[in-house]
Amino acid sequence: MSTAEGPLVPAGVSVRKPRHGDLFELMVDGLDERGDGLARMNEYEFTLRWALPGDRVRAKVLSRRRNAIEARVEAWLERSAQRVTPRCAHFGVCGGCTLQSLGYEQQLGHKQRHLERVFTAHGLDPAVLQPLVGSPEPWHYRGKMEFSFGNRRWRTERDDAAEDFALGLHVRDVYSKVVEVEQCSIQAEACNAILASLRREARERGLAPWDLRRHTGFLRHAVLRSSRSSGELLLNLVTAGEEFETVDAYLAAVRAAHPELTSAVQTVHTRAAYGALAGVERVVFGAGRIEEQLLGLRFEISAQSFFQAHVAQAERLFAALIEALALRGDDVVHDLYCGTGTITLLLARAAREAVGFELVEAAVENARASAVRNGIRNARFHAGDVLTAWAREADSARVLVVDPPRAGLHAGVLAQLKARGPERIGYIACNPSAGARDVAQLVAAGWKLTRAQGFDLFPHTPHVECLMVLERA
Ligand SMILES: C[S@@+](CC[C@H](N)C(=O)[O-])C[C@H]1O[C@@H](n2cnc3c(N)ncnc32)[C@H](O)[C@@H]1O
Repeated sequence: MSTAEGPLVPAGVSVRKPRHGDLFELMVDGLDERGDGLARMNEYEFTLRWALPGDRVRAKVLSRRRNAIEARVEAWLERSAQRVTPRCAHFGVCGGCTLQSLGYEQQLGHKQRHLERVFTAHGLDPAVLQPLVGSPEPWHYRGKMEFSFGNRRWRTERDDAAEDFALGLHVRDVYSKVVEVEQCSIQAEACNAILASLRREARERGLAPWDLRRHTGFLRHAVLRSSRSSGELLLNLVTAGEEFETVDAYLAAVRAAHPELTSAVQTVHTRAAYGALAGVERVVFGAGRIEEQLLGLRFEISAQSFFQAHVAQAERLFAALIEALALRGDDVVHDLYCGTGTITLLLARAAREAVGFELVEAAVENARASAVRNGIRNARFHAGDVLTAWAREADSARVLVVDPPRAGLHAGVLAQLKARGPERIGYIACNPSAGARDVAQLVAAGWKLTRAQGFDLFPHTPHVECLMVLERA
């Protein structure tokens, strides 16, 4: 067979170096860490958007870097048996839950294999990995969703509205466009109705949505937070200017339709750069915060504070961490990159003292307030860069917990860690690849990896969290 772009190369045939526009017939047999399909031919590895293991496709080469090829599916020759009908009407456009067309059990299988591959790539024994802990509630699990207003609405067959107003999520790969999200299946059900009212009232009042390219308009984001334990709902409306009276009237109308919305704040974010969290905050009504419980502790969550998005799964992950660390009552434990101190406070219950280290001052203030709220007197927090803040008292901890950002541990922190030699280390990796890289270094420096397990905190997305526990040999 040949096409305008060139001959179609059947599966398994030896090829010259693939070039842009070349067509291949491929059998997809895996997924990469972004959830894109993987197919192999000779020494080449193809990644294919939206393809699943078991799909047979005709694909066109978009780009090649050494042996890694990005290709686009031109025709679906055979559909994978693992495919399910996505629950969400916005699937395929929305940049949110991109794994939805894969059955949940298969998603877990993929995440487990991904962890095994990552361990192998970094010289760690994949046999240490226990079975991944899937979520018993893979829908409506998110305690926080950040929606965007936009004047570049993504038009689809089902949504061909002429107006330039959308409230929803960014389109995958087309960041400047917003897909109108009527129903988001991973946030609390009650938030969908609030989203609809926010949209209707904004349109009726002629409030201008944000223009991501020109940086004009008024309404930027609607961040909805819900508490699983208290049922409270908090809205953070992010605007480009003050116009307090306009916002008061707008949110009063939304509140009248939704008494279940317990509080709303307005964040004024005047800079062009994206960000729902930076800016001056004003409480419009209610307390300006909600309360959530996690493993029996009570946490106050304000509009700008970080909190675990999937509380039920975070509980499982933290319970496993605490069990594996087997703290003694006379232990001092340090929690590096502690955020709002959730883990520090949980550890404090089983230790002589728990000390959290965190860069963001506001998060540390939240952590201190939560300590008071829960009557925990043996927890302290330091605001500052872990690299310097921790060095001052690093010797005193027998047990250490690290939960770094996606990049993993800073090389300087890793060097300090090796030099100080805590007896036990609990490593929570939101990016298992960076985590396995750091853990491999600790293993080479004399620690033994005694436990490793994945936890699915973000069903229907490619993300997976990995707990690793090390003991000094
Ligand atoms: C994955 S979050 C940790 C969340 C926390 N364990 C919790 O459950 O709430 C990573 C944290 O590392 C902090 N961080 C990033 N770089 C840092 C640095 N150089 N020093 C200290 N903290 C840092 C971030 O502000 C963020 O709160």
